[in-house]
Amino acid sequence: MTSPAAGGHLSAEVVARARALIGLYPHPRSALIPICHLAQEQDGWLCPEAIEEIAGLLGLEPAEVLGTASFYEMLHTEPVGTYVISLCTNIACMLRGAYDLLEHVETSLGVRPGATTADGMFTLEDAECIADCGRAPCLQVNHRFVGDVTPASFDRLVDDLRAGRLADEIPPHGTLVRVRRAGGLRVDDATIRAERAAAAARAGAGAEGS
Ligand code: FES
Repeated sequence: MTSPAAGGHLSAEVVARARALIGLYPHPRSALIPICHLAQEQDGWLCPEAIEEIAGLLGLEPAEVLGTASFYEMLHTEPVGTYVISLCTNIACMLRGAYDLLEHVETSLGVRPGATTADGMFTLEDAECIADCGRAPCLQVNHRFVGDVTPASFDRLVDDLRAGRLADEIPPHGTLVRVRRAGGLRVDDATIRAERAAAAARAGAGAEGS
């Protein structure tokens, strides 16, 4: 079994926050996915060193962490660019020109799906249905939806991202949770304690009612 000590790649802040997250759950391994998001927020992806340390924090084997992380598309176990562009080519998008759009995107960025541009700015993914079929063809940039995409609007999007004009809307890859939930995984200790107390109270009420 992996040593429970963290090993130095993850920042002290991330480790402290991870330990606080572990305290929210009855079993440490339940904090695995939020901690993966937390580590991904540091590096933009989950490197082997981070996986090793997460395993140490949770008392798991690195292979268990990797097995979970590699299952979820929102977690990356390979380096990615600042912006991950996931272009849907599933049925609704395909019928609305997704493959022509993909061809344009490949030419425009100079990469094929699965690759990252030489400047490290963009990783291109060929995605399955991203559940925004009504606005086909569509894509996600760092999991933010962009619908009714045309070649011209795609190029404008890339220009805006390169120029930092969308910095407030689309932060670098890995900051999903922080943006989606103000404070995200970096919530303060008082909030964590309040959440823990509320969860305990709910559990107590459930036990009394059963
Ligand atoms: S088919 Fe593209 S979002 Fe559903």
